[in-house]
Amino acid sequence: MIYLNNRLVPDSKAVVSVFDHGFLYGDGIYETLRAYDGVVFKIEEHIERLFNSAALIRLDISKTPETIIRAVNKTGKANRLSDAYIRITVSRGKGPIGLDPALCPKPTFVIIANPFHGYPAAYYKRGVNVAIVNTRRNFNKSIDPAIKSLNFLNNILAKIEAKERGAYEAIMLNYSGYITEGTISNIFFVKNRTLYTPEVSVGILNGITRMAIIGIAKELGIKVREGKFRPAHIYGAEEVFISNTTMEVMPVAKADDIKIGSGPGKITKAIHQEYKRKVAEYVKQQYKA
Ligand code: PDD
Repeated sequence: MIYLNNRLVPDSKAVVSVFDHGFLYGDGIYETLRAYDGVVFKIEEHIERLFNSAALIRLDISKTPETIIRAVNKTGKANRLSDAYIRITVSRGKGPIGLDPALCPKPTFVIIANPFHGYPAAYYKRGVNVAIVNTRRNFNKSIDPAIKSLNFLNNILAKIEAKERGAYEAIMLNYSGYITEGTISNIFFVKNRTLYTPEVSVGILNGITRMAIIGIAKELGIKVREGKFRPAHIYGAEEVFISNTTMEVMPVAKADDIKIGSGPGKITKAIHQEYKRKVAEYVKQQYKA
């Protein structure tokens, strides 16, 4: 079942107009969430970011955060899901051809909830390969990467490049040549017991997982430095990992064919373990409440 506008409908009935500006112009926003044992992790943070993305494109979602949270949980239940991948999409809506948002009086609101089967265990055991690609991350004064937008061609072009180079994820630089992020993930590296990650001002999506990881590292007594980094920092790192809501903490084995350490590093593993512990604690708390 799909949640479309204000109700649950079967997949076959969940259709959107060819005049939807999400389809015509990529005019809209989205969020990806993950549920563990039927509990959507950090749902408030995701909904807050959805509203932030909406504000940045002057889109009125026309729903309250509470209504959306209820709709997400309803969609998960209707599909009898325990571990789930959830996507909330809000587009500008249906309207005549033309760029003016005023042409679309009503946004299109969709929630998809699918079973989540996880990633292959080998990705975590051995790590994945990344490529630092030629496609640059959108300039933050053109399309700010802080907007989780439906306009994903920047990331798709980078992904195509990574695939052509046999890598799993693409890492993009900004226009000044600083490391930003992956196509669907943030990046971290470790050197001399310090955890480094690109600062938000280089033009990234401030991942909810990224923020959790920074907190965890500090709790574990690991120094954290946000800053501006070059590809050489990644090549010379002792450990590298990428993060997002669905992959959590995924070790990187190679960057542009340069081997990073010898398999997933100690700090990467410690952070991931603590992340999983926090998820389990969160799920338990929700059941108690
Ligand atoms: N992607 N950077 C980009 C460009 C992303 O698209 C994502 C998330 C992240 C990590 O954000 P978070 O930790 O809040 O998931 C960083 C989701 C998973 C997606 O596109 O489906």
